[in-house]
Amino acid sequence: MLSEQSAATVRATLPAVGAAIGEITERFYAGLFAAHPELLRDLFNRGNQAAGTQRQALAGAIAAFATHLVEHPEQRPDVMLSRIAHKHASLGITPDQYGIVHEHLFAAIAGVLGEAVTPEVAAAWDEVYWLMANALIALEKRLYEERGGTVWRRWEVVERIRETDDVATFRLRPVDGGPVADFRAGQYVSVRVELADGARQIRQYSLSGTPGGTVRQISVKRVRGEGTPDGEVSNHLHEQVREGDVLELSEPFGDLVLDATEDTPLLLASAGIGVTPMIAMLAQLAGSGHRGPVTVVHGDRSPAHHALRADHEAYTAKLPDAALHLWYEQDAPAGARTGLVDLSALPVASGTRAYLCGPLPFLRAVRSQLIGKGVAPADIHYEVFGPDLWLARD
Ligand SMILES: Cc1cc2nc3c(=O)[nH]c(=O)nc-3n(C[C@H](O)[C@H](O)[C@H](O)COP(=O)(O)OP(=O)(O)OC[C@H]3O[C@@H](n4cnc5c(N)ncnc54)[C@H](O)[C@@H]3O)c2cc1C
Ligand code: HEM
Repeated sequence: MLSEQSAATVRATLPAVGAAIGEITERFYAGLFAAHPELLRDLFNRGNQAAGTQRQALAGAIAAFATHLVEHPEQRPDVMLSRIAHKHASLGITPDQYGIVHEHLFAAIAGVLGEAVTPEVAAAWDEVYWLMANALIALEKRLYEERGGTVWRRWEVVERIRETDDVATFRLRPVDGGPVADFRAGQYVSVRVELADGARQIRQYSLSGTPGGTVRQISVKRVRGEGTPDGEVSNHLHEQVREGDVLELSEPFGDLVLDATEDTPLLLASAGIGVTPMIAMLAQLAGSGHRGPVTVVHGDRSPAHHALRADHEAYTAKLPDAALHLWYEQDAPAGARTGLVDLSALPVASGTRAYLCGPLPFLRAVRSQLIGKGVAPADIHYEVFGPDLWLARD
């Protein structure tokens, strides 16, 4: 909890900090990467940095945390902290790096807000930063410990499967022949690859196989640039990585995991490559004999773009009370609908817990349709395949 004195100062300065967040972010990353070019090369996603898409997540999350501290001092925003900690741990972030970020963030705040940053203001925001940083450090420490203290391990590609023109599945086994820890459906691994210029870039991929096996499976969509550069890691994986090659993978992380008793009514909605965590969830439900109703919803450009469609259909068919509803923008076959996902005609059982994954416009549309149908906002869980800018705003 913030001290009373700092709470008053933070409350008074939040609007100024919020208004300057774009400029603070600019300066922060410029200073951070000038002093530590290795962080841009080997840790941060340089595509997001170039496109500007991830940049406000960090400072935005601190502002959101500060707002939470002053508005709800009695509770901790655990959902937000846990999501960030899982992402950080999947990247192997260490406690000493919080000192580096602190130095450059506070230099940026002082640079942008100038004389408004009195010693009192600096001390109050310092308190906010370290409350958040220490909470994250503690959560990350626990996540590392639960995984035996190692993040990265070498995995051999034992099979590569062509799913669609743009999606390939990679099945991997640990090179050291050691045990494969189980994962929870919905979790992801980070993949770290060395690119042609020597940079080591990291991206997350949801596990698309069955929990409990001895093989890890990811399904990667190749990101083609539209007037922008092609995605670096997805294209590297598609072009360079074949059976017998070795990849560096993190242990599984992610707190958007399937959490249901065998009777819980569920709705699993995905669009495009957002299908990957849904397949793991369906595999888990089929394996555990889930009895409650499961509504499976998917939208894609066409059946030919629908990756893992056979698994989607087969696992749904294994469940006693499940139905798959498909929407394709083109070439919809009999039984599927044409256009974007629209839940208005679908019955949604009371007490339904929903898991969503797909692009932001899809998530927004499905979330508001579900709320319109009486699903409690707390029962709607989502994964975003990119910087979670919802999180920074919520
Ligand atoms: C939790 C999680 C799970 C995920 N699961 C999956 C999954 O199961 N399958 C899957 O395929 N993906 C998944 N993703 C997405 C994946 O992590 C990558 O984001 C994706 O593969 C793209 O990475 P990339 O390196 O190919 O593209 P990047 O190089 O990161 O590029 C991303 C975008 O930035 C643009 N860009 C790059 N440089 C510039 C520039 N200079 N100016 C403007 N724009 C630019 C590119 O054109 C591209 O559109 C997941 C992401 C998360 C966070
Ligand atoms: C209190 C301090 C910090 C806060 C509030 C914070 C917040 C965030 C948030 C909100 C995200 C996005 C999460 C998501 O998309 O799900 C993120 C991602 C990330 N953070 Fe942090 N962070 C902090 C400290 C650090 C530190 C110390 C480092 C290491 C130098 C770091 C490196 C990263 C990286 C590499 C990503 C992924 C983004 C990318 O690859 O471009 N963060 N952080």
